[in-house]
Amino acid sequence: MYLEYCIDFYRMKHDDFPILFELINNNRLVYLDNAATTQKPQAVLDAIVHAYSRWNANVHRGVHYLSQVATQKHEEARKKMAQLIHAQLDEEIIFTKGTTDSLNMLAFSFGEAMIKEGDEIIVSQLEHHSNIVPWQMLCERKKAILKVIPLKEDLSLNIEAFKELLSPSTRLVSIAHVSNLLGIVNPIEEIIRLAHEKGVPVCVDGAQSVPHLKIDVQKLDCDFLAFSAHKMYGPTGLGVLYGKKKWLDKLPPVEGGGEMIEHVSFEKTTYNVLPYKFEAGTPNYIGSYAFGQAIDYVQQIGLECIAKHEDDLIAYMEKQLAEIPHVKIYAAGLFKAGAVSFNVYRADGTLIHPFDVGVLLDRQGVAVRTGHHCAEPLVNHLQVPGTIRASVAMYNTRNDIDTFIIALKRSIMMLD
Ligand code: ALA
Repeated sequence: MYLEYCIDFYRMKHDDFPILFELINNNRLVYLDNAATTQKPQAVLDAIVHAYSRWNANVHRGVHYLSQVATQKHEEARKKMAQLIHAQLDEEIIFTKGTTDSLNMLAFSFGEAMIKEGDEIIVSQLEHHSNIVPWQMLCERKKAILKVIPLKEDLSLNIEAFKELLSPSTRLVSIAHVSNLLGIVNPIEEIIRLAHEKGVPVCVDGAQSVPHLKIDVQKLDCDFLAFSAHKMYGPTGLGVLYGKKKWLDKLPPVEGGGEMIEHVSFEKTTYNVLPYKFEAGTPNYIGSYAFGQAIDYVQQIGLECIAKHEDDLIAYMEKQLAEIPHVKIYAAGLFKAGAVSFNVYRADGTLIHPFDVGVLLDRQGVAVRTGHHCAEPLVNHLQVPGTIRASVAMYNTRNDIDTFIIALKRSIMMLD
């Protein structure tokens, strides 16, 4: 029932995304690289033009009309982010350049205030580089230790091993809610509960979950959450770091400059209140406004409806992939949000390089991502040079999946 409703709905919405009418190599575009970035609806494109044409001025700085309007739009956008993830306070929303920036900011700030030699930070084997490298850099700076939750054979997190890793020296757990490579949804509630039982805060990398799942930070009780606008139909160069006020109040700013100060003198500078303490310089207020419009757009359709539609597409795609001989789906059968990763083997058992498959799919108008997907430790664990990842968004259709499967079969015939 929901599907029929959604199909009608997404047909209409498909038309809202102008780029989907582009011909790629003389083929209709089938865009299945949504985990890398989503396409933008006309409402978001219009918002950017509208903002620059009608009320562009720097925020929080001017008594003049345009600056007041821009400030109001920027702060309304912050409120929308807070409502989206059900943050208790608007000031718990810090605007950043994206998930990577959010995680780096947290690693630096948390590291300065809370980490000393011998302390431990826990991540997992399936993290994106953004949720590995900033913590590694912190560990190098502070002589701390990075611990890694291993995977079980089915590629889900080994929670028993996680319990063993939690120690009196653990200071933070930072974990992806949804794996960008595998699409699998980690048992984040359980991870948070186990960490909190030991008094350890948890940061959730929500880059791949906020666009696909309804997130309630108060219910989850996560201490920090990072996500990006561009993976949720919004503009590039904007993201959010959510943090519980009790934590953000304790953490030092990362960048100095305008906006983040209360008073500056050569003797002593004092810092602004939250969230501005973490927002040095002119913020991306056009981006925040446009992301706010993207969220309105998504909410008009309904996150739940979008999630059901995407779940249907993923199940449909996984079923069809499983029927193609010599296709290996990673984490087959596990619940996934938005993405499926796989590889193709020849009849003699040798791997067809994922890049070769990706190039041939592109010739047929199908965009997927191939390679290590910024998750090299996971790809190494899979013992392959990379994978092929197909990821969906609200505007994809079963017809897109059919086209992709036909194109994939053609590519395999050429490469086998
Ligand atoms: N993090 C993005 C991806 O998974 C770029 O493709």
